Amino acid sequence: STHQNDLTYHTSRHYCSCSSNIVDVACLRAYINEINRRGFMPPHIIKAAFLLFNTPPEDLSYNKSTGDSGTSNNVSDNDSKTRHFSFHPGCSEHTRTEIISSYQVIPDFISPEEEQFIIAEVDPHFQRLPYEFDHWDDAIVGFRETEVSRWSSNCASILERLKTRAFSTKKKILVFTHILDLAENGHIKPHVDSIRFSGNTIAGLSLNSAAVMRLVSESDTNQVVDILLPPRSLYIMKDRSRYNYTHEVLANEYSKFGDMPVPKTRRISIICRNEPL
Ligand code: OGA
Ligand code: MN
Repeated sequence: STHQNDLTYHTSRHYCSCSSNIVDVACLRAYINEINRRGFMPPHIIKAAFLLFNTPPEDLSYNKSTGDSGTSNNVSDNDSKTRHFSFHPGCSEHTRTEIISSYQVIPDFISPEEEQFIIAEVDPHFQRLPYEFDHWDDAIVGFRETEVSRWSSNCASILERLKTRAFSTKKKILVFTHILDLAENGHIKPHVDSIRFSGNTIAGLSLNSAAVMRLVSESDTNQVVDILLPPRSLYIMKDRSRYNYTHEVLANEYSKFGDMPVPKTRRISIICRNEPL
């Protein structure tokens, strides 16, 4: 059963430093190099930039040197509900409906300033923890994590905004917020969050790096959906997507959205859950 991968919480005393690469800048630089090399913005780059940074396609497609326009596939027409999903071939209509109705990605849920503010506030919680790499039975590899209940008023108000968006008022939200620091070379293996520790809704804010979350149906492993989680985005995973699919965060070497590589550096996630029913 996938529930064997119940998350365990560790504490330890070792200090571990980590880099704070800002993936957006690295990505953007790669995109700009691509434009310079080709002289125009290829459609897949426009799509990537649009998904990762929410840059309007019209800002990206104009080419000064040739007048070429890369807007042949107009990404702004993409449905905002589905543009973060990449359904693998073999996905049924049922899977698409189930995922789209129970999993939501909200890009730019917080500003870059809020992102930096939250990172600065959670970093001291991580500093004395080592990254965990060597427990083969853990759901997560290359991570450190803890739970936080006391926040500065700035962070508390961001979390309030998150909770208001993700949970209906009737639901009891766990007072401890799970903070998870995934190393650049870390990944999260397929698992379903324990039904003993959390209810029907899991809401996660991604900080510092983009990542790809993969969902696989527990009853049919051909039903595979990749989800692009840009930095500063919020995902809300509930009901069917939370109970009937495993979720995982792909290791950097497999981190792709369709054929677009999604470089994953150190990624911090702030995860709110509600009480089990
Ligand atoms: C987890 C998990 C996802 C994330 O901690 O159970 O799946 O966004 N985390 O970090
Ligand atoms: Mn999980």
